[in-house]
Amino acid sequence: AAGDAAAGEKVFAKCKACHQVGEGAKNAVAPELNGLSGRKAGSVEGYNYSEPMKASGITWDEASFKEFIKNPKAKVPGTKMIFQGLASEGDQDNVWAYLSQFKAD
Ligand code: HEM
Repeated sequence: AAGDAAAGEKVFAKCKACHQVGEGAKNAVAPELNGLSGRKAGSVEGYNYSEPMKASGITWDEASFKEFIKNPKAKVPGTKMIFQGLASEGDQDNVWAYLSQFKAD
């Protein structure tokens, strides 16, 4: 379903403890998320990913993102993203709509 980016920005508050996105976003506890759509998992330079994330073979698109964010540890066993996930498909769609607005710097 088509997501609502404004609603997704509100849900993204849960992610902001660890992730930055938008102008000037930097790697922090977690990798910055600019240019996520079309990006290979585990590929942001200067960020120390887990081996399972680097080896996952994922390219981030709507489908792979939704599977991951629904249950990160199920999609990428051994990931160091310690987050329970977003159970609501509406939340998943909305966060994707929000994040996919930000192009790579
Ligand atoms: C990785 C999204 C919440 C910590 C990732 C990746 C995505 C993502 C797409 C893969 C990035 C890449 O391949 O470059 C999100 C979203 C969140 C969220 C949408 C909220 C709904 C969090 C939170 C934390 C966190 C709250 C910290 C407690 C991490 C870490 C990684 C990661 C450490 C690297 C994982 C690894 O190398 O195995 N996240 N995240 N994330 N995230 Fe999150």
